[in-house]
Order: sequence, then C-alpha cells, then structure tokens
Amino acid sequence: MTIDFKQDILAPVATEFAAMDKLINEGISSKVALVMAVSKHVVEAGGKRMRPIMCLLAARACGETDLDQAQKLAAIIEMLHTATLVHDDVVDESGLRRGKPTANATWNNQTAVLVGDFLISRAFDLLVDLNNMVLLKDFSTGTCEIAEGEVLQLQAQHQPDTDEATYLSIIHGKTSRLFELATEGAAILAGKEQYREPLRLFAGHFGNAFQIIDDILDYTSDAETLGKNIGDDLMEGKPTLPLISALQNTTGEDHDIIRRSIATGGVSELDRVIQIVQNSGALDYCRQRATEETETALKALFQLPESEYRHALYNLAQMALHRIQ
Ligand code: IPE
Ligand code: IPE
Ligand code: MG
Ligand code: MG
Repeated sequence: MTIDFKQDILAPVATEFAAMDKLINEGISSKVALVMAVSKHVVEAGGKRMRPIMCLLAARACGETDLDQAQKLAAIIEMLHTATLVHDDVVDESGLRRGKPTANATWNNQTAVLVGDFLISRAFDLLVDLNNMVLLKDFSTGTCEIAEGEVLQLQAQHQPDTDEATYLSIIHGKTSRLFELATEGAAILAGKEQYREPLRLFAGHFGNAFQIIDDILDYTSDAETLGKNIGDDLMEGKPTLPLISALQNTTGEDHDIIRRSIATGGVSELDRVIQIVQNSGALDYCRQRATEETETALKALFQLPESEYRHALYNLAQMALHRIQ
C-alpha cells in the first residue's frame, strides 16, 4: 500500500495543522526587517513539517482533546527546527535548502547565524508562555544536546576512523533529539506521564531511521527531488553511515579512496565514491539499519492505546523509511 501524506497522516490533525502554520508566521515576526526577511525566506520555502505534525498527533494519541497548547508547541518545534537548519547550512557551507538558495548563500554567514539565534530565542520566549516548568526544562536540556550533536559531528569531520557508535550518538543529538522533544513534549503538556517514555523512544528511533535515510539520499538522490544538493556530506568529509559501512566492506584501492575522501573532503571523486558505496553493499546495510530503527520505534509506539492518531504516526514512520525526498 502506498501511503498518502494528506489522507493517511495529516487528515486527523488538519485543522490544528493550519492553525499551527499561522502561529509560525506570527512567531517569526520582528521589528527588524532583515530578521523577518531571512526567517520568512526559510519558513516560506516550505519543508515537510514532520516534527510539528508528530507533536499534534502525539498529543491526540495521548488522549488530549484540547489542542490549543499543543498547537503552540508544534509551532515552537518547527521554529527550532528552522533555526537548526539555518545554522547547519552555515556549518556545512550548503547552498540549497528546500529548493531555494540557503540564507547563508542569499545573505551571508553572519546574518544566518544571528537570525538562527533569533529563532531559537523566540522559540523559548513562546515556550515560557506555555507556563510549564517541566516542559521548559526538557526543552532547555534537549536543545543543549542538539548543539552538542552538531559539535560532535564537527569533531568527526575528516576522521575516517569514526565508528557506527559515534555516528549514532551524533545523529541522535543533531536530529533525533528534536523529534523526541516534539512527541514527549506533547505528553508532558497533556499531563500523561505514562506516555512520555514510549513517545520519546518512538521519536528517537524514528529520528535515527530518518537521518540514516537522509544520509543515503545524499549519495543516491538529486537536487531537484531533494531540494538540497547531493554530495554535500562528502564535500564536507562527513563520515556518515554509507561511508562507515563501505569502509567495513572494502579493501585495497576502493577502501583507500573512501578513506582519502573522508580525510580531504571535496567532491572530485564523488562519482567513484557513489559507485563504491553502491557496489560494496553499504546502502543495503544502511537500509537494514533504518528498518531496524523503525521497528524499534514502532514497538514503543504500540504501547499507546489504539487510535487513528497512533495509526497516523505509524504511517508517518513507514513513509519516512521509504521516502525519496
Ligand atoms: C532536514 O530535515 C534535516 C535532517 C534531519 C535530515 P527535514 O528533511 O525534515 O527538513 P524539511 O523541514 O522537510 O526541509
Ligand atoms: C541534519 O544534518 C541537520 C540538522 C539536524 C540540523 P544534515 O547536515 O545531514 O542535514 P541536511 O542534509 O543538511 O538537511
Ligand atoms: Mg547539512
Ligand atoms: Mg544530509
């Protein structure tokens, strides 16, 4: 069965989703025109809005009936996500995001860093309004861990000896942690303590699978489908799972090429690297790991009572595993 995003995932929270989108636009307003122009540039470029949808579905899956607060939380999550992307594109020197030139490419690094900071600060400003100390603490700790994940990744750059365990802690920090905040945050707001852990586990493993797939796509997709340039990871000498696995599966010249590409970065050998990654079975291994992460995620999800919302979260996990963009 192919999953239809609108019908099988979004439909149960479509009204709240539209309201949430309005909140994001209000949230990014600023009296400084440049701040607003940059934020709008990124927000209006779209994006899949997966994290806020998960937040809304998680709130309902916990039995919450009034989604007023969850809507605000979902908007906050997407603002935090947007900020991490703006910062990430500076660090990764990326030129294309959501099919548009990045903020750093359109303006410059300084502007992108400062507007990213503004978005994080505004997100916390709005979070305080939710008046929930447990939630505020969870988000403060969580965002520190996201920043730590990105710094860990920076340390691993150009390091061909990076192992899978290190890779996992990097992606858990930079990517999965925000998914966890989105769903566990919904349980906190709903006052459903018993669902915090299942939802955190679901989102954490979902996030791992999602990032592994993203790292595969960086070698197999194209800019038009993806809305961002492929080869960015190799350019930066990032030891992502496709390369870590290719190193395990190769010897001789192929092995040396991959090691050298991580050490030096650059895309002059991109075609050759793609070929080695594909022939070495590394992509099969990555897909297998993403499938395992998804299975672990779903096991945790099934600790929640059956509902159309839980089913939509299930569909989202399936769709993310098979996504091509
Ligand atoms: C991009 O996330 C960053 C990663 C964790 C790979 P998304 O793929 O969810 O980005 P948008 O919001 O849809 O652009
Ligand atoms: C994910 O890492 C970025 C964040 C979680 C901020 P990537 O660097 O792989 O993401 P893309 O590929 O630029 O979207
Ligand atoms: Mg990046
Ligand atoms: Mg990537």
